[in-house]
Amino acid sequence: MKMEFKNLGRSNVKIPVLGLGTWGIGGLSTKSAASDDDDVKALIFGLGLGMRFIDTAEMYAAGHTEEVVAKALENRRESVFLATKVSPEHFSSEDVPKACDASLRRLKTEYVDLYQAHWPNPRIPISETMKAMERLVKDGKVRFIGVSNFSVEQTRQAQDALSIVDVVSNQVEYSLLDRSIEANLLPYAEKEHITIIAYSPLARGQIAMGSIQEDRWRTIDKVAAKLGKTRNQVALNWLITKKSVIAIPKSANPAHFTENLGGQGWSMQHEDYDALNRAFK
Ligand SMILES: NC(=O)c1ccc[n+]([C@@H]2O[C@H](COP(=O)([O-])OP(=O)(O)OC[C@H]3O[C@@H](n4cnc5c(N)ncnc54)[C@H](OP(=O)(O)O)[C@@H]3O)[C@@H](O)[C@H]2O)c1
Repeated sequence: MKMEFKNLGRSNVKIPVLGLGTWGIGGLSTKSAASDDDDVKALIFGLGLGMRFIDTAEMYAAGHTEEVVAKALENRRESVFLATKVSPEHFSSEDVPKACDASLRRLKTEYVDLYQAHWPNPRIPISETMKAMERLVKDGKVRFIGVSNFSVEQTRQAQDALSIVDVVSNQVEYSLLDRSIEANLLPYAEKEHITIIAYSPLARGQIAMGSIQEDRWRTIDKVAAKLGKTRNQVALNWLITKKSVIAIPKSANPAHFTENLGGQGWSMQHEDYDALNRAFK
């Protein structure tokens, strides 16, 4: 199945509508190398399916997730859009470049495509962090700057602090089970051409598990049966139907990758889209 692409922010760079999340790969808050070989194979499998966008973070598994990603990138770095994140405790002007260099070392690459500020840090002015990130663009270590878990106001402040590049993306939780960004952030992102990178798009596995005792799960099952798709595929398609949204489901299971890939490459009808909106209000 061919992969669909969308423009990243206002740029001409096209990114796949489905990328690979990596939280949990290589450990959670600490390193766990037990399944590294299988995880590398799984990531390579996902890349082979066309999900050539990997999202990681310095925080994941205390840096080890980036090391696992580096192995999956060996000999294919140029064909992958690579995103990582700087942690809030590294948001000062001295720490941002150090954190970036450490990520580059672990990722075994000379640049990241998208460098994201992971969570707002109220103790450090957003402008200080953004200016430090912009210097990394000038140095050629970062291609694009993004934010994550930023409100409209915080995104605006981040944008205002930049002079040579835009904030191209905001990575936030978004799924049928968490639609909170629809109130303010999504309309703002659409207006400002900021890509929304939807994390936990499968509600951390809950979409597959919802009980058919509830109306909303019966609705999604009905839509899925009509379209010959699975619940997860419908849930991902519902997200990427919105013009500024792409999604980064996490999996380390090839069968799940294949299923998730089938969440794109087709469009649902308005009536199905509306039925889902009503059911998952
Ligand atoms: N910026 C942030 O603050 C932030 C916060 C959270 C997450 N994220 C990013 O977003 C990514 C995705 O979010 P997430 O990991 O929280 O949640 P998610 O992608 O909604 O769900 C992941 C869970 O769903 C399972 N799964 C995936 N595909 C499946 C399928 N087809 N059928 C059944 N189960 C399936 C996975 O298990 P298997 O591995 O067994 O497939 C895993 O347990 C993360 O990995 C991370 O990169 C960012």
